[in-house]
Amino acid sequence: MRESAVQRRAAVRTESLTKRYGEGDAAVTALDGVDVEVHAGELTGVMGPSGSGKSTLMHCCAALDTPTSGRVFVGDAELTRLKDKDLTRLRRDELGFVFQSFNLVPTLSAEENILLPMSLAGRRPDPAWYRTVIDTVELGDRLRHRPNQLSGGQQQRVAVARALASRPSVVFADEPTGNLDSRSGGEVLTLLRRAVDEMGLTVVMVTHDPVAAGYCDRVLFLADGRVVDDLREVAADAVRDRLSTR
Ligand SMILES: Nc1ncnc2c1ncn2[C@@H]1O[C@H](COP(=O)(O)OP(=O)(O)O)[C@@H](O)[C@H]1O
Ligand SMILES: [Mg+2]
Repeated sequence: MRESAVQRRAAVRTESLTKRYGEGDAAVTALDGVDVEVHAGELTGVMGPSGSGKSTLMHCCAALDTPTSGRVFVGDAELTRLKDKDLTRLRRDELGFVFQSFNLVPTLSAEENILLPMSLAGRRPDPAWYRTVIDTVELGDRLRHRPNQLSGGQQQRVAVARALASRPSVVFADEPTGNLDSRSGGEVLTLLRRAVDEMGLTVVMVTHDPVAAGYCDRVLFLADGRVVDDLREVAADAVRDRLSTR
């Protein structure tokens, strides 16, 4: 049995999170007063129509974008109150991000890509943790290959390993399987699931795919910049039903 709601710890929390882009008539409200908690040690899915604010929510929570109003907490730290130096440190040490398009450096090997964010900061990963990441990502001798010598699924697993290397408390993944066939997508989803189950991380993942949602402990549904549903441990067909009633 999972812990009761009372005992669940929030890894990320938003309060009246609002994000507007542009001014006047051209203004767009991407997030409209979102109050949400992401529970530590869970894989949380985020679904919703295109333009519903999923990426904006991820970017605001991962300190890649700043809210127009409202608050975002990562653990006990309130992002909008942090000084630049502390925000940079939090982003580097506590948060990982995986993009749909892998964003690997083509001239570097898989292993160099994995280590790049830490080496840019003059750091090396904890050796035992790094070994766990490398073992879990199951790239074997392909660690010395460059991205164009790897399949899409392998490239995205490199990108996940890069996000895990600093042992962050939360990893955000924005449509991580969006560019992958179902088999490669399955490899990446299995890896994210293992990051939660075996490595104790918290993962938040945007997806359009009901199969991907089936890997999640919980799925949040966004529409027009608001959370409109919050389902626990849904089967893929239940997500399909939920999407088809919209
Ligand atoms: N940088 C931006 N400038 C202007 N509008 C933006 C920007 N980013 C997102 N938007 C708008 O905010 C809304 C939500 O976008 P987004 O968070 O990307 O949605 P989703 O990821 O669910 O497709 C959309 O209407 C989008 O056009
Ligand atoms: Mg998006």
